[in-house]
Amino acid sequence: MISDAHGPSVWAVLAAAGSGERLGLDRPKAFAPLGGRPLLAEPLERLEATPWVDAVVVAVPPGWEEPAILLAEELGAGKVVSCIEGGATRAESVRAAVHEVPAEAAVILVHDAARPLLDAGVVERVLQPLAAGEWQGAVPVLALTDTVKRIRGSEVVETVDRTDLVAAQTPQAFLADMLRTALGGDVAAATDCASLVEAAGGRVATVAGDPRLVKVTALADLELVERLL
Ligand code: CTP
Ligand code: MG
Repeated sequence: MISDAHGPSVWAVLAAAGSGERLGLDRPKAFAPLGGRPLLAEPLERLEATPWVDAVVVAVPPGWEEPAILLAEELGAGKVVSCIEGGATRAESVRAAVHEVPAEAAVILVHDAARPLLDAGVVERVLQPLAAGEWQGAVPVLALTDTVKRIRGSEVVETVDRTDLVAAQTPQAFLADMLRTALGGDVAAATDCASLVEAAGGRVATVAGDPRLVKVTALADLELVERLL
């Protein structure tokens, strides 16, 4: 069992098994070039440097386990316990990675490799609500700045009041048992893990997100993250 002075063990699951279709490169998004290295190097290095994380499991596309392990070794990312084949959807990839997390883990932090600029501060913020016993999960959020419209086809149906709407990011933190339960059902439609925990009856807290946690979707996002490096 891995645990140290800061208390119960925290395992991180890095979802990196997407194909990166919208990026349109000749390799998966996790291996797209970012600052002269594979993109995956950035979140791996940052998880390694985060004092709150004890161990890391990485889900990668089929056939990319070996390159991921070699990359972790090159980076000296000793917290990486295994690199496994992900699933057809993000939630299935997370589920496969969570299978590798030992029962002793108290908390599981789920992060998207597609948000490379992970900072220890936001990790600390999402872990904090879980200590009190009142919350089973915590997510970083940002206020919406654009006006939000509901549409049908190309026509505006309604302008939505955005005062109580936020955008959710990763890393998201969960009590390990709660996340395992939440991943036990039908996960196909889920775009984040918090939605599964909410559906399973878990209480999810919000904490301040980080505008630097830009999600790489298209090439322009990759260029933006490169500038922010
Ligand atoms: N992801 C995953 N397994 C999948 C699909 C996605 O682990 N089967 C991960 C991605 O690697 C990414 C995160 O979930 O870190 C968010 O997914 P997204 O941004 O949609 O990445 P991709 O699915 O790779 O991109 P695209 O949808 O353009 O193919
Ligand atoms: Mg996708």
